[in-house]
Amino acid sequence: MPFSNLLICIYHNFTRNITVNHRRIFTNQRRYLTLSHNLYHGEYEWQDPKSEDEVVNITFIKKDGEKIKVRGKVGDNVLYLAHRYDIPMEGACEASLACTTCHVYVDNEHLDKLNPPEEKEDDLLDLAPFLKENSRLGCQIILTKDMEGLVLELPKATRNFYVDGHTPKPH
Ligand code: FES
Repeated sequence: MPFSNLLICIYHNFTRNITVNHRRIFTNQRRYLTLSHNLYHGEYEWQDPKSEDEVVNITFIKKDGEKIKVRGKVGDNVLYLAHRYDIPMEGACEASLACTTCHVYVDNEHLDKLNPPEEKEDDLLDLAPFLKENSRLGCQIILTKDMEGLVLELPKATRNFYVDGHTPKPH
């Protein structure tokens, strides 16, 4: 077994949210051991597409109107992809559905290509400033091939009620 697949973490005094094959697992255990192909949140998004078949080109529109074209891939989480390309999508709760700082507007052409929001996402969006019909939480958008050409616009402001002043560190 490759050493990189052996991951032993010892936690001291805080809860981690890890991503395993794009399914979030919440744990407040002090220790965990895994021998599977787990990736830390955001690690997958730092990998380039392995073939053109998995490329998903998307565009972010920043608050100032600047458009940033990004070459994503199938399976990328929009929040972590944004972090990779320095798009100022905060993601204060690190995709644990406990904030709205990853709020984005999805272009109408692609809106129905996204999975419908789960109840918790809807509840959070109700608290988001500048809510629109096409609002979604970026951390809940996982790219699929039919999202080619997706355009995501950042709202004028977001509210961080998760941890006041907390800014996640890049991974
Ligand atoms: S990062 Fe907090 S809900 Fe998306």
